Amino acid sequence: MIIRDKRLAEIATRHGVDITMVEPPDKNTRLEQLKSILGRRDVPFPIDPEYGEKYYQQALDGIPFGIGTLNDKTVDLEGYENHQEYHTMTMEDHLSWACLVADQQSTKHSYACGEYLHGEEMFEIGGTCIPDYYILNARIFQQTGWQLATVSMIIPADVFFHCHSRRFFPVTTFMRPLECDYLEEPDIGHDIAGHVATFTIPQVAEVMNNHGLANDIIRQERKQRLATARDEQEVQRIDEETQELLLYAGRLYWFTVEFGLVMQDDSLKAFGAGILSSPGETRYSVDSPHSNRVLIDPSLDKDLLRLATTDYLISEYQKTYFVMKSFATLSSLTPERILRIVHVARDLPHHTWREIVPGDNVINVGTILTSPNEKYYRLLARQPLDECLQRAAIRNLRLYAAGLDIDTGEKQMFMDALPPIPDEIHEEFRKLDEAGTWKESS
Ligand SMILES: [Fe+2]
Repeated sequence: MIIRDKRLAEIATRHGVDITMVEPPDKNTRLEQLKSILGRRDVPFPIDPEYGEKYYQQALDGIPFGIGTLNDKTVDLEGYENHQEYHTMTMEDHLSWACLVADQQSTKHSYACGEYLHGEEMFEIGGTCIPDYYILNARIFQQTGWQLATVSMIIPADVFFHCHSRRFFPVTTFMRPLECDYLEEPDIGHDIAGHVATFTIPQVAEVMNNHGLANDIIRQERKQRLATARDEQEVQRIDEETQELLLYAGRLYWFTVEFGLVMQDDSLKAFGAGILSSPGETRYSVDSPHSNRVLIDPSLDKDLLRLATTDYLISEYQKTYFVMKSFATLSSLTPERILRIVHVARDLPHHTWREIVPGDNVINVGTILTSPNEKYYRLLARQPLDECLQRAAIRNLRLYAAGLDIDTGEKQMFMDALPPIPDEIHEEFRKLDEAGTWKESS
């Protein structure tokens, strides 16, 4: 292959990539590979030959991959369906993938959990070209029973989690620009190089499915409540309450599946896809002195509440990482328990991702630490606050002003652990809030 673009060659060299290897396999080679994979029987979920033949025919006919069709299940993507048109991906796309994989090499062996490395090998996603989704989907199905559903770049959370409830994982078809380490939105690098390998961790796959089921129940409850809503105001209230529950459920997902660390052999290891798809954050999440790290046991309600009540931003590396005691403890996140915890979280004050909370099992305190009451003082002093601090400060003070609903011992225990907020803060906030001071920012 003649490399005409000097810029691409320089980028490849910078990442230790042999650019002559960045050449996607042609259609015949991919079809041959697909045929041999579909015939495998020595796997946990062998593909029924009837489904396998139709699937192969679709690939042969050049139909772009959309939603996996290896069993009788499918998923409604509500208009967000997309396709992977493998032949349209550019040299830049494949090189961006190759650079990401090469950069991961330098961090994942030291910082990723062993299961991730195993999964990456099993699905052959450590190569120099973007995987063909026909092939990758077949491999994933055979090992886990999950399939891929191709979507446009960002889809609403309810569609995303609905896919999870059906054991479909939504994947994008967009590859990040060259040399971009951290993206706010998902891309092929995040979805495939981050998430897919972690499906082989049974507890992670299970908790993803459970999140999907919990979200489906929340949406179902919304539908039932709307059917008897008396007026527009009630409809609005039901929608707001539903969004709130989904937000807190999303935090449980965020701090585990996306940005979780796990303790293995007395060492911190990363397993969250948001971490693993960023070589920079992979190292940072384990090593950096800036962020807090808190050990949690997800089977304890108080620890799960800690996650559900912690606000974060998506625009930068995490300020607090939660370290699972073990993968086994994740199995305790059943749909019913997720629902119960997010309902409790609605009535409690929330923390920001910069805080250490009394009772935390602290592994290290980061240099970014702020005390729980600092957000209130800074809000009232009109000091600059990031969105997370501001959002939590205003929410909590309004909640206190409206009166807390502490009707269980569990909520009381949560409240007892928090440092009291001085009365003058409540009073000053109340006056300013009544004057509409926080209207724009809340
Ligand atoms: Fe993700």
